Amino acid sequence: MIEICTQLEPLRERIQTWRKQGLTVGFVPTMGNLHAGHHSLVALARQHADRVVASVFVNPTQFGPNEDFARYPRTPEADARGLQDAGCDLLWRPDVDTMYPLGVAQATAIRVPGLTGVLEGASRPGHFDGVCTVVTRLFLQVQPDLAVFGRKDYQQLAVIRRLVADLQFPIRIIAGETVREADGLAMSSRNQYLTADERRLAPLIYRTLTAMRQAALDGQPHEQIEAEAVAGLAQAGFVPDYAVLRRPDLSVPEPGEGGARVALIAARLGQTRLIDNLEFSLP
Ligand code: PAJ
Repeated sequence: MIEICTQLEPLRERIQTWRKQGLTVGFVPTMGNLHAGHHSLVALARQHADRVVASVFVNPTQFGPNEDFARYPRTPEADARGLQDAGCDLLWRPDVDTMYPLGVAQATAIRVPGLTGVLEGASRPGHFDGVCTVVTRLFLQVQPDLAVFGRKDYQQLAVIRRLVADLQFPIRIIAGETVREADGLAMSSRNQYLTADERRLAPLIYRTLTAMRQAALDGQPHEQIEAEAVAGLAQAGFVPDYAVLRRPDLSVPEPGEGGARVALIAARLGQTRLIDNLEFSLP
């Protein structure tokens, strides 16, 4: 049976016991409502560590005032079962007071500059401050040898890598591939907000990413590709925040420049905001 901890002391005791036995610890932070994408991260952690801890914490500090914190789906029983089946040893499930003992308003915050001002950071002010603040706390609570994050949240992964490098956390960050539905839609806890009509439209995000990749490989200018992607999404009924081609560090490439690229899209469909990305390389 998977062990569930809701208090810091039993969590620390269990992890210390493992350490004394010379076992390594892998960690998968989540906000719950787990799907096959999350489970794949647990399986990946399993490959690299002797014991796997997953956390489920819907982090209030990373949601904007008009975002979906209150209605974010919470499915604790199914999450625990799924984690157990995926090979997770311990579920860390603190409440808000345990995570933020001084309260959210008084909490010491962690901010990674630069990288967090663009794309998701620009569309969701304060979002990455909340992510960095909670991930720092989670890392100090669990003190894992390695932690697994999904490529689905491309910018989050980049921000976490920078946080870990700058604060010199002795934690190896491992990236997990994006798990998709059969029609290409990236799995997300937010997909269930979609109406049936919206769900039929949603795979256009991934199709647009693959079209952006093809157009870039065909040598079309990035600006034109981005404009066409935005126009295509808007025409289909999305409200796009961005559709861009960037270098892996999210900076803007020079015209005609080769090398690694990532196409990133964020778009709203009705009440739901969806993000996805596709990595590739230009000759
Ligand atoms: P959450 O959205 O629950 O995602 C938890 C982890 O699962 C993240 O690393 C995310 O990139 C990964 N993930 C989500 N969908 C995926 C998919 N379809 N395939 C593969 N991996 C996927 O990201 C967060 O929570 C939070 O910001 C968190 C890091 C836990 C901090 O609160």
